[in-house]
Amino acid sequence: MLDIKLEDIVSLCKRRGFLYQGSEIYGGLSGTWDLGPLGVQLKRNILQSWWQTFVEKRSDIYGLDSAILMNPQVWQASGHLEGFVDPIVKDQVTKIDYRADHLLEDQGFEVEGLNLKELQSLIDDNQIKSPDSNPLSRLNQFNLMFQTRIGAQDERAQTVYLRPETAQGIFVNFKNLIDSFQPDLPFGIAQIGKAFRNEISPRDFVFRSREFEMLEIEYFCPPSQWQTIFDQIKIDLNDWLVSLGISLDSLTELEVPESERAHYSQRTIDMQFAFPFGEKELYGLAYRGDYDLRQHQDLSGKSLEYIDKKTQSKFLPVCIEPSIGVERLLLAVLQSAYKVDEENKRVYLALPAGLAPIKYAVSPLVNNKADLITKALTVFKNLQAKYGCVVWDDHGNIGKRYRRQDEVGTPACIVIDFQTLEDDTVTVRSRDDLQQKRLKISAL
Ligand code: GAP
Repeated sequence: MLDIKLEDIVSLCKRRGFLYQGSEIYGGLSGTWDLGPLGVQLKRNILQSWWQTFVEKRSDIYGLDSAILMNPQVWQASGHLEGFVDPIVKDQVTKIDYRADHLLEDQGFEVEGLNLKELQSLIDDNQIKSPDSNPLSRLNQFNLMFQTRIGAQDERAQTVYLRPETAQGIFVNFKNLIDSFQPDLPFGIAQIGKAFRNEISPRDFVFRSREFEMLEIEYFCPPSQWQTIFDQIKIDLNDWLVSLGISLDSLTELEVPESERAHYSQRTIDMQFAFPFGEKELYGLAYRGDYDLRQHQDLSGKSLEYIDKKTQSKFLPVCIEPSIGVERLLLAVLQSAYKVDEENKRVYLALPAGLAPIKYAVSPLVNNKADLITKALTVFKNLQAKYGCVVWDDHGNIGKRYRRQDEVGTPACIVIDFQTLEDDTVTVRSRDDLQQKRLKISAL
């Protein structure tokens, strides 16, 4: 893959309306990002593609959209109240908090497999320093869940949490799905939704944010089938990434060692992508066993057992979970599409046509001839009504319009010129190979 700098992507995203820093005019709010008109369209196209692939085109996966705010007992049962923590240290002088493992990584230490005790001893030995070279506090465990309060009156207000994963909304609806649809195992439940994490050090653009959107599937099966299904889901997910323009060469599979796995996981692989800041997790695939259903069954007192229709045997299914953060994926999609064409002195996004935020740009050759503009407007309106996501572009000369559209990944530009007035044909110029074809308007 091309050696792309993160700054190039960040700059394109801001300049061309894909992504802006959250609350920018107030100096921003760290770890938050706003999607501009092209960013939101690209993101929706990605979400739609996922939903179509994994929900609409499959009969074994059901869709769900559960509430962000949930009964706090959910997080007690899931183990997030106790276990969803990061190791942090405070710079004793500046009082800034840092993630201890990030400091280590930044200072060239290998963090894989280190436990908290080992981290603490590195701090004790003064091996890790703050970025300002100041001494650090002892290690603390910091819970990443944001808290808020429900209810107007303080004394009766209840502490609730913004969900750090959408998965728990799926587990607590497992019984509802069984009662409504009586599905046969194996089956999955899929959900797209916002998640919130009070990350100590959000960084690397949208890679690590405090608010992000997740694509998650909990796929339930009998215990004997989990390995086969685990492998198949990985294939399905990677095939889908390829359909978004992400090459398999840019992915590396990391088997997460037990000491680094989340508290619920018996096996996790991280699918890493070669981001400009290094190979980092794009999605996770975890075998959660029956941990979540068992925990919720125990705390709620409601049976979550599945009854096999043939044998009438009752058991808790186990679960495999692919989980992707959409903003990370958006970054990987943009990076994979980013092309520098030295010969033609242009940058373009070779986005798959289905993902491109703009499908066609329509232009009159010149913008001072009334009959040309009228004709071009008719073409524009017809295409817009037919496809949506079509833009009108009559600024600057044609060359500049092409460059502008190339940079945001528009697959084709349509130009209405004087010949159009005579024979109803237009020029269709293709983003990737720069070919120009003359087509009848009726054939567009
Ligand atoms: N339910 C499983 C789960 O939450 P995770 O590895 O913590 O597992 C899953 O997160 C995915 O969510 C990650 O692979 C990543 O794509 C995304 N993700 C996690 N934390 C994120 C953050 N702070 N900012 C953006 N994306 C994040």
